[in-house]
Amino acid sequence: MTEQTSSATPMIKATAVNKYFGDLHVLKDITFEVPRGQVVVVLGPSGSGKSTLCRSINRLEPIDSGTIEVDGQPLPAEGRALAQLRADVGMVFQSFNLFAHKTILDNVMLAPVKVRKQDKATARKTAMELLERVGIANQAHKYPAQLSGGQQQRAAIARALAMKPKVMMFDEPTSALDPEMVQEVLDVMTGLAREGMTMFVVTHEMGFARKAADRVMFMADGEIVEDTTPDDFFTNPRSARAKDFLGKILTH
Ligand SMILES: Nc1ncnc2c1ncn2[C@@H]1O[C@H](COP(=O)(O)OP(=O)(O)OP(=O)(O)O)[C@@H](O)[C@H]1O
Ligand SMILES: [Mg+2]
Repeated sequence: MTEQTSSATPMIKATAVNKYFGDLHVLKDITFEVPRGQVVVVLGPSGSGKSTLCRSINRLEPIDSGTIEVDGQPLPAEGRALAQLRADVGMVFQSFNLFAHKTILDNVMLAPVKVRKQDKATARKTAMELLERVGIANQAHKYPAQLSGGQQQRAAIARALAMKPKVMMFDEPTSALDPEMVQEVLDVMTGLAREGMTMFVVTHEMGFARKAADRVMFMADGEIVEDTTPDDFFTNPRSARAKDFLGKILTH
């Protein structure tokens, strides 16, 4: 990695990305840049390609054509370089994906020790600080099943942050939560956004989009149909598909 990156290098740069599942064209010539520190909320109807785009950005899904760069580095195909890139891109899913047979603390320490080769004492210290930050330090020695959904999701965020990612991807992080637990997770995300984390967030939480996002990308049918500020998107949607989407979601 000799290439110098600067603050002008976009954190994410996707150029003419195409992706198919069989005959289904799920990402159609997607091109965008996310500058560092920006918080992007991705909206769009079910099946529009939001999750596929997220997964493509850290190569959980291969793409068929185009390029994706993270902090100036093209996505490597495999091997050590790919492991490094995945470590740079934190990912939080709807399902928390914590290891059931490890404590919360061990879940957060695991990747820094295994992938980043941190010594255990350092990893433990960082993990406890992160658990403190997401408000569940007192749950560190419990197992995932002993925590509420909101606490598990905050643990999953701490686990992703433990790798010191350059960018955090969230794919519907609150969709599986009981309503009373949604806000505690959104509060952690809002805090991260304020601290300058680059974030790419698929969510149906319009309050978060309005309050914490710098930018809204609206996807429909594998395309980015609108790409603007939250205020502009919510008050002045241009496409019929965005108007239809907002009509449905805002009357809920
Ligand atoms: N592994 C797969 N194999 C085949 N088709 C898939 C696969 N994953 C997704 N698809 C299809 O690709 C399209 C985009 O799916 P994707 O999950 O990215 O949409 P989404 O915008 O995240 O939807 P949702 O809001 O429901 O989560 C859909 O038509 C979906 O059925
Ligand atoms: Mg999805």
